Amino acid sequence: MNATAQAITDIKKTLGKNVYILGHHYQNDAIVAHCDKTGDSLELSRCVPDIEADHIVFCGVHFMGETAALLARPGQSVHLPDLSSSCTMSMMTPAAIARKVLKQLTASGRKITPLAYVNTTLDIKALVGEYGGGVCTSANAGKMLAWALKQGDSVLFLPDKHLGRNTAKKLWLSAEDWHILRINKTGLADGESREIDRPLLLWPGCCCIHTRFTPDMIAAARAAHPGCRILAHPESRPEVIERCDADGSTAFLIKESMRFAEESPGSTLYIATEYNLVHRLATRCKGRCRILSPIRSICGDMAKVTAKKLLRTLTDISKGKSAPLAVEPAQVEPARLSLTRMLEICA
Ligand code: 13P
Ligand code: SF4
Repeated sequence: MNATAQAITDIKKTLGKNVYILGHHYQNDAIVAHCDKTGDSLELSRCVPDIEADHIVFCGVHFMGETAALLARPGQSVHLPDLSSSCTMSMMTPAAIARKVLKQLTASGRKITPLAYVNTTLDIKALVGEYGGGVCTSANAGKMLAWALKQGDSVLFLPDKHLGRNTAKKLWLSAEDWHILRINKTGLADGESREIDRPLLLWPGCCCIHTRFTPDMIAAARAAHPGCRILAHPESRPEVIERCDADGSTAFLIKESMRFAEESPGSTLYIATEYNLVHRLATRCKGRCRILSPIRSICGDMAKVTAKKLLRTLTDISKGKSAPLAVEPAQVEPARLSLTRMLEICA
């Protein structure tokens, strides 16, 4: 154990039950080693209400910390080791523009139900709550989209156009059923209709880390290892997902890898997702099966959380100096509404 890891272990022992460390599956091994719980975004949100510690340290990106802060008990504080770790996709939906778009789309009296991927800011979650919509994660997007489609004339899914289409296809919607909106600073771009008569309207955002995977990479993997199995995270492009054997949240990818290692010894599994997770699974399954990644795609924001920053956060907590994540009080109730709607529908 290196000096930083030892210092984290020691300070965690001193803090005892006063601190609980959560970590997303995309964190690197040096962080995961210190987490009390790791999970996908749904699992991490679900566990927050049961945490009793005064301080929750969230090793992940900003929107995940905000989500935890919304679900935390009164008096509990949430700390991020690096406040600048903002998921780039969550920054693709500025709330002021989303508000303009919703106003334009509903001006004729149409009922538009916004469905926000959890990878969005607090402001977006609050706006969605205000418009009677909900939140989803990659693990329950199908269930939440099915719910949203029943609420009114159209659903506005934001920000991930890839996850939106991949999910819609699983519900048997076709290309005629959705439309990717053209948006600029004023809201809908010139020429974009205010009354698009399609069940699913998609915000034109995406995750740069998953968009790097291409159909050619999938073909190259199949050529290099005939008979291999290929999994992907649903933030990947639809043309990639079509060529894979299955897709799902990070928790699903872990479960499937463990099953594959058990049932297909000596075989090859490719996983198209953030590289830290693929690397961890490859190490875990070594000697049983081979786990590969089409390319090493690393999320720079997740990687901002380092062991040194985790140590500093824990040290600051122990000295009563750590500044907890601040959430705008006026946004808390509507944002929590959109989140609890998800937790209730997917209970
Ligand atoms: P999960 O919901 O699968 O954990 O994914 C979150 C994420 O940010 C993927 O890029
Ligand atoms: Fe955001 Fe993509 Fe990083 Fe996930 S991998 S946190 S969606 S930028």
